[in-house]
Amino acid sequence: PTIYLKDYTPPAWWIDTVDLDFVVETGATTVTARLALRRNPAVAAQPLVLDGEDLETLGVSVDGQPATFVATPTSLTLTDLPDACTLTTVVRIDPDKNTRLSGLYRSKDGYFTQCEAQGFRRITWFLDRPDVMSVYTVTLHADKEAFPVLLANGNPVAAGDEADGRHWAKWADPFRKPAYLFAVVAGKLDVLRDSFRTASGREVQLAIYVEPGKLDQCPHAMAALQKSMKWDEERFGLECDLDHYMIVAVGDFNMGAMENKGLNIFNTKYVLARPDVATDVDFENIDRVVAHEYFHNWTGNRVTCRDWFQLSLKEGLTVFRDQEFGADLHNRQTARIREVRGLRAAQFPEDAGPMAHPIRPASFVEINNFYTSTVYEKGAEVIRMIQTLIGRDAFRAGMDEYFRRHDGQAVTCEDFVAAMAAASGFDFTQFMRWYNQPGTPKVVVDGHYDPLERSYTLTCTQSNPRASDDAPALIPIRVALFTEADELIAGSERTLQLTANSQSFVFNDIGDEPVPSLLRDFSAPVNLEFDYTPEQLTLLLAFETDPFNAWEAGQRLASTLILGAAAEIAAGRTPQWPDSFTAACRRLLQTQRERGAAFVAEALTLPGETTLAEQLEIVDPDALHAARNGLRRHLAEQLEGEFSGLYAALTVKEAYAPDSEQAGRRALRNLCLSYLLELDSDALRRLAYAQFREADNMTDQFAALAALANINAAVCVQREEALAEFYDRWKDEALVVDKWLQVQSTSRRPDTLATVKALTQHPAFDAGNPNKIYALIRAFGANLVRFHAADGSGYAFMAERILLLHERNPQVASRLARSFDRWKKFDADRQAHARAALEKIRAHPGLVRDVLEVVERALG
Ligand code: ARG
Ligand code: ZN
Repeated sequence: PTIYLKDYTPPAWWIDTVDLDFVVETGATTVTARLALRRNPAVAAQPLVLDGEDLETLGVSVDGQPATFVATPTSLTLTDLPDACTLTTVVRIDPDKNTRLSGLYRSKDGYFTQCEAQGFRRITWFLDRPDVMSVYTVTLHADKEAFPVLLANGNPVAAGDEADGRHWAKWADPFRKPAYLFAVVAGKLDVLRDSFRTASGREVQLAIYVEPGKLDQCPHAMAALQKSMKWDEERFGLECDLDHYMIVAVGDFNMGAMENKGLNIFNTKYVLARPDVATDVDFENIDRVVAHEYFHNWTGNRVTCRDWFQLSLKEGLTVFRDQEFGADLHNRQTARIREVRGLRAAQFPEDAGPMAHPIRPASFVEINNFYTSTVYEKGAEVIRMIQTLIGRDAFRAGMDEYFRRHDGQAVTCEDFVAAMAAASGFDFTQFMRWYNQPGTPKVVVDGHYDPLERSYTLTCTQSNPRASDDAPALIPIRVALFTEADELIAGSERTLQLTANSQSFVFNDIGDEPVPSLLRDFSAPVNLEFDYTPEQLTLLLAFETDPFNAWEAGQRLASTLILGAAAEIAAGRTPQWPDSFTAACRRLLQTQRERGAAFVAEALTLPGETTLAEQLEIVDPDALHAARNGLRRHLAEQLEGEFSGLYAALTVKEAYAPDSEQAGRRALRNLCLSYLLELDSDALRRLAYAQFREADNMTDQFAALAALANINAAVCVQREEALAEFYDRWKDEALVVDKWLQVQSTSRRPDTLATVKALTQHPAFDAGNPNKIYALIRAFGANLVRFHAADGSGYAFMAERILLLHERNPQVASRLARSFDRWKKFDADRQAHARAALEKIRAHPGLVRDVLEVVERALG
């Protein structure tokens, strides 16, 4: 059934305190819950209807007396309760058989929980909704030798031994919280301890728990946690409110990480790092995810969501915060470029496809399907626009006001925006459209220069065919004007507020026709069109002082060339590449010292196939692939000397550190290598293989492997050897094995599907582990040219994997189903194959709701 935002009603009951007792035994865990219930006086008296899933009910009593109740598989109803009472339920669950990884489940080293969004109901009968907040105490009992570590939210209050080699521990969380922030862990784990002293002098004990033997991969995450705590004090005046802050890493986890109060549970991918097993990007992602979960302690936990439609209230805001942290810690220029690259690769296609939804959806069937790049990344863009519109200081004042008003509450997106309005005086009425409408707005800009008036007029016209009406959005557009002699015109830097469907903005005292730089720093998540000449774009690429828009100019140039070439190739002609583009790329390489290696690496990375495909009416994936790689090869031929020279010059001689300076040099050097491998040269392949063998860090080793893995030649000994050696060396490091799978599933080689199929039978693969499925199967679904093979083999394979997985793990299966999102952008034959695959999935008896929602929307 579909659930609608408009149907929200407050809960009929409150649960003030929760006392939980877990008896963990092989084959079953018994959970006794004592809930202090109180009728919500604001709501008409109603029976108590608790949520549950896969629970075996052993007993129900009210105030100590056995109670009568009506149970269905998903609800427990009690009528005629007093206005306040204590309800005790006893249930048996089987975490060893919980393959969904929602609720309490077994992983290699113990038992772990994931309760967001609705996993708590798989542990005990409860009002499993975020506006019901309670104070929890938890006691865990388990075998002492198998599970020496017993953790729950809050503070340890007591522990002891029991008969038969068992032990127990009791925890109390002083903060009221919704059930989705509940967590327990019982496992055999190693721990890294440290501490943090807050600005006001509170001493917080920090601990990171990991699989035995992995302690040497924890220091980076620990440092990230300390840096996050410091940053949030400095930027937002927010201090850690806890005595204990614990992070537990687990290898079986559906998502990235979870912000449970005081007891974060993380996918190992976002904790474990050591230079020889993790890349520069991994190190940076760990910084950001650790920060993200920590930042949730305020934006999510202290102030939480009233209902799941408000998910972006905490996620968009917290992503914005982790982006800002990452930009401050690493490289602000490239951080912004990568954010936009990611948005265009994932969120724009989502917003143009069958799963399009506003950052605050109006309805859903399965909430887990809405942990999307729209809610997260577009949500962060909406927060960023608020900051752009009112300025950084007013934004900070708005955050202060938000916590002053709502600390301890479960609130809505309106509440957040109202705090921003109160602090700034800005009228956000029109801006709320960003919360309520799907689709990426298009803004077409036209520039007109009047030499007599010495004025320049920008006329902006917006449209959004996905929106439910034609009313205009409020779109902040940061602009600056440049002279043809590449100077920024003084006083031309402005933030235009586009509020009408079409609107003109006049710049006075402009001596000559200028070159406008539009949407600087990507000030709004829109597609902006302006009829630039290649000369103007080349100028902006070279001289625009906003690094994002300099990069953007290069991307526009490259997109035009690739899309033009794809059309030529589809028509059977050979594309021609203009020398001007090569010359612009050469200048970038020559100026890497001044512009920064990291920036130049981003600027020379061509737009991805998925992003380019969005600009086409009908996608010919083979032509697009050939065009993009044709341009790469052309650049490699023309710039071989520059690439080779820089490859030698950029060698990092210092000891490895994952800092932005070194990472930038490695990124550009490895980009040079990947271009060089476009050339059919055995010497260059040997160069890559030598780097693979000699690298003392995973960034360089993996870059060489990835470049080799793409080589198309039927025989390439370096490729075969590198892949074999890599697996042999790293087969016991699960996260590195994921890289090995992914480098093969994302290869451009025509035999990739056959390879992926063979790998599903390889010992490296585990059909129940989300990271393995994402690395091998989902990554294949994102391999545009191979997944969308003309014979439909990619689609048939994906359908088969989804049906193998859906009951075992609905959330992960549903993510695989999203591979089909853009099937209607392809030709009729491909569409027929995709439709057949989707219909086969839909027709499957007992198909889980998660997958059904995605497939039904895809079939439309
Ligand atoms: N709140 C977590 C985060 O963004 C994500 C957890 C989502 N889990 C899920 N099963 N839907 O940090
Ligand atoms: Zn989050």
